[in-house]
This record gives sequence, structure tokens and C-alpha cells, in this order.
Amino acid sequence: MSNGIARICTTLTACLLAGTALAQTPPAAGAPAAQAKPASAGEADPQVIVEKMFTLGGNRKGVRASGAKGMCAKGTFTPSAEAASLSKAPHFAKTTPMTVRFSMGGGNPNISDKTKTTRGFALEFEDSSGPMLFYFISAPVFFAKTPAQMLEFVEVRLPGADGKPDAEKIKAFTAANPETTRQAAWINARPVPASFAGVDYWGVQAYTLTNKAGKATIVKLKAVPGAGQLNLSEDELKAKPDNFYGDELKERLAKGPVAFDFVAILGEAGDPTNDSTVMWPEETRKTTKLGTISVTALQDNTVCDGKNSDPVNSLPEGVAGPANDPIFQARAAGYAASRVRRTQ
Ligand code: HEM
Repeated sequence: MSNGIARICTTLTACLLAGTALAQTPPAAGAPAAQAKPASAGEADPQVIVEKMFTLGGNRKGVRASGAKGMCAKGTFTPSAEAASLSKAPHFAKTTPMTVRFSMGGGNPNISDKTKTTRGFALEFEDSSGPMLFYFISAPVFFAKTPAQMLEFVEVRLPGADGKPDAEKIKAFTAANPETTRQAAWINARPVPASFAGVDYWGVQAYTLTNKAGKATIVKLKAVPGAGQLNLSEDELKAKPDNFYGDELKERLAKGPVAFDFVAILGEAGDPTNDSTVMWPEETRKTTKLGTISVTALQDNTVCDGKNSDPVNSLPEGVAGPANDPIFQARAAGYAASRVRRTQ
């Protein structure tokens, strides 16, 4: 991508002091997708990471390297009155159609819905000027802060000659990289959600919203379910079959739309913008409701499979990803590699 990294700032304070507020001008909506970014010195090549992700998921054909098991749906986004005060994106100015996809983390399309892992919520806001695309997960943090760390995280989990990962290798990597345990700790400390519509989802990375007056605000984005947190007790979980989210969502949608508040958590001085393994102290941060996502019906999975899948370069003017977060930057090439492979 045309990286436009004017200056690198590592925290919100530094960004604001530098006056750049992560000044990154994303390509205009509808601009050609970025070329796969080659690895620069010291970084891991996102294409290599994705190859290893496929290996970890069992090298299945025709599926995503992550979020391999999922359900495609459609809906609308209705912005709040406050949304335009934060971002000039046309998607925040009127009701827009949406394509969304709920998924289970990882590259195994047969993963049990009972698994303690992240759930994904892909959100495409559709506007005639171009899409606005975010991939949210059911944890506030990612499991690696750099592509190199992500590559090693995946590599140490690959099965050896005996068909099993080397427990000692995982232990050593974990000890040397404690921040890589935060995502799993978050998931493991919580019950398994009873529904894709009953769990919080985070955009994880720090986005800069810019309004018509040029005021930039650094935020983290979150989708909060209208149904509340729907959790399964251990006994309820045991009684569930491996595939229950599909029927659950169908039944729920038959009764009416499934709503989520789309919320911006406003960053404060010192909140890091370059490390996706760190959660901002949300309970003490102000929030602004940007609008309501209303999921109305399921649609055929081929609709989502055929969609653009680059959350780095599919952002309108008024919304920019974190130019200083190496994990964000790696995503464009990673998703492109997965898309090429799964559509071959
Ligand atoms: C905070 C960081 C990240 C978040 C929140 C995130 C979230 C997600 C979600 C929700 C999906 C499922 C998308 C769908 O339903 O279509 C996904 C897919 C995927 N992710 Fe990530 N991801 C992150 C970073 C990365 C990075 C750094 C890489 C690799 C360099 C990566 C590689 C992939 C790949 C290859 C897919 C499958 C894409 C496709 O075939 O369309 N992700 N991710």
C-alpha cells in the first residue's frame, strides 16, 4: 500500500504531540488494492505467516486461513447523531447496507462451536463511494505484536514428525513472549458464548477518525450485542452439539433483527497505538455510540467468499488504520495471500 507513514508515534500522547494523529491517508475508496508488501528487514513475510496458518489449520482447500468456519449475513448500519462529529466518512452520515460474517478463529472449517477461541465478526459497510471494512474479534487484543512474533507463535504450534506440536517449544516461546498469552487468557477466563449474537467484538487496533473540520480522534472500535452477553454454563456447553451457532442464529433472526451498538472507545494520552496485544483501560475511557448495526438475514456463504477481504485498504476518507502498528500493516498482504489460495 502507499504507506504514507509520515511520522512514527508509539502512543496516543506521542501521536497527538506530533500533531499527526497517526496521519495516514488511506487510498480513496475504490482505489486499487495494495500490492502484497514484501517483508522488510527484521520482519516476517505475511505470505509466509499465512502459509504456516494454512498448515496449522490442516491445509484445507477453499477455506480462509483464519475464520475458516463462518456464516454470511446481511443487514444495515444506522449512524447516531454523534457519528459525523467524529468522522466524515459517508458511511457515518446515512443508513448503509452491510454484509457481515460471523466466524470461528483458525483455519479448520470443522472446528467445534464449543471451542474456547476467538469468534470473528467481519463488517462491510457498503456505500456507492466504496466499502468500509473492519474485522472484529471477540477479544480486545491480538496474540502477537509484530509479524515476526506472529510467525513464531504459529510455527511453534505446528505438528512435528509424531503429528503433535512440541510442548517444550511452546513453553519456551510463551515464557519469552508473555504478551502472546493475553488473548487466550481473555478467552479462557470467560464462558463460551451461547450465540454469535451474544458476545462483544473488538476492532482491536487503534483507528483514527477524522471529521469534516479536520479534527482527528484516535479510537478503538467495538460492537456490543443488544441481546447482552449470552453465556453457556459448563453443563449447557456439554449438552450442545459441535455445530449449534448456525441454527441458533437462524432461529434468532426468524424472530427479528439482531442488533449491535457500534461504539468508539476514545483514546487518552499514553494509550498505545502500535501494540495490538495491549488493551486500553476501557472502563475509564469515554465512549461514543457511532450507530446501530442491525443484522437482518443470513445469506449464502458465497456472497461473503466473493467479497473484498482487505481491511487495510478498504477504509474511506475519515477513517484510517494505525500506520505505526506492524500487525495492521501486515494484514493487507496476509489476506491477499489467503484469498489467492482459497480461490485457486
Ligand atoms: C488485530 C489483528 C487482527 C484481527 C482482529 C484479525 C481478525 C480476522 C477475522 C475476524 C478474520 C475472518 C474474516 C472473515 O470472516 O472473512 C480474519 C481472517 C484472516 N486473517 Fe486476520 N486478523 C488480524 C490480524 C491478522 C494478521 C496480522 C494476519 C497475517 C499476516 C492475518 C491473517 C488472516 C488471514 C489470512 C485471514 C483469512 C482471510 C481470507 O481468506 O479472506 N490476520 N482475521
